[in-house]
Amino acid sequence: MRAAVYFQAGKPDVLRYIDVPQPVCGADEVLIKVEAIALEGGDVINRATAAPSSRGTIPGYSAAGTIVAVGKNVQNRQPGQRVATIALNGSHAQYRAAPAAWSWVIPDGLDVVTAAAIPVSFGTAAWALSSRLHLQAGETLLIQGGAGGVGVAAIQLAKARGARVLATLSGSARVAKLHELGLDVALDYRQQDIVAEVQTLTQQRGVDSVLDLVGSTLELSFACLREGGTVVLAGNAGGSTRADLAALQQANQTLSGLFWGRELANEQARASVDGLLAQARDGVLRVLIDREFALQDVVEAHRYAEENRVLGRIILRP
Ligand SMILES: NC(=O)c1ccc[n+]([C@@H]2O[C@H](COP(=O)([O-])OP(=O)(O)OC[C@H]3O[C@@H](n4cnc5c(N)ncnc54)[C@H](OP(=O)(O)O)[C@@H]3O)[C@@H](O)[C@H]2O)c1
Repeated sequence: MRAAVYFQAGKPDVLRYIDVPQPVCGADEVLIKVEAIALEGGDVINRATAAPSSRGTIPGYSAAGTIVAVGKNVQNRQPGQRVATIALNGSHAQYRAAPAAWSWVIPDGLDVVTAAAIPVSFGTAAWALSSRLHLQAGETLLIQGGAGGVGVAAIQLAKARGARVLATLSGSARVAKLHELGLDVALDYRQQDIVAEVQTLTQQRGVDSVLDLVGSTLELSFACLREGGTVVLAGNAGGSTRADLAALQQANQTLSGLFWGRELANEQARASVDGLLAQARDGVLRVLIDREFALQDVVEAHRYAEENRVLGRIILRP
């Protein structure tokens, strides 16, 4: 099969589109013929910074397609089913093996491209709001990194919970689309003093919760937070996270970390993705696809992801 492989971490042109052996389907896995790959923010960061294995690594968390084989321990999946999958890598390929427990049957009526973009971005956002922030109607949430794949999901899910939603992003071109999805206030992190704006918008009280997908913004997130509020740190899109957190003790604030890959050990977390796929099928949740690329143009796709103000997700098609 053909796949995108990198042999050293670095810029997008470390990716090679080459022939590699088809993955073997493990006893607890499904093997799918990939039809759509969601290019996740983490895929770009991993290619840039994560050391590959000695034989090279096929990057990528999230891909959807049709099952062609199931492992001997797998009872509840069968060849021919359309599924969305997560694995720690391997999405950027014509075939990918993934744990069967991390595969979700795509409901009838939902297209494979939309489905590919649900398990990581919407799954992470939904779990952050429910299990970490316990976001309630009437509360105010700040999302750091609001225009990316996870941010677009979090805006919709927070609005559905009845929250007031503020989000940081750069530039104004994407703001109208995000207002359509439920964003109340867009804050331009390149132009505005985010802490001052948030304090004004909350009558100097601070927001109830922050979903921080940027990481380098962690101190700012606490400066925007009310006493007793919670920041969930779920990403590092802005680079490494270094923060002086002494003030959170005086303010009875909470910092909560979230890694979705570990949460997927939890059956309730896995089941939440079925609900999100159903909501996407029903048109309650919207996946914004910024652009599609052929998988063979993977270098261009990763470059586009890094150099542009992407709205939502980029899709690769094998
Ligand atoms: N915890 C988990 O298990 C989990 C799951 C999924 C994703 N993640 C992580 O979450 C992060 C976001 O993922 P994603 O897929 O949404 O990424 P993405 O689609 O690439 O979006 C990243 C966003 O970060 C924004 N950004 C960068 N620097 C910023 C800054 N200084 N202030 C505010 N925003 C800034 C960009 O904003 P502009 O375009 O507006 O400049 C962009 O919209 C990544 O680090 C990813 O690895 C973690």
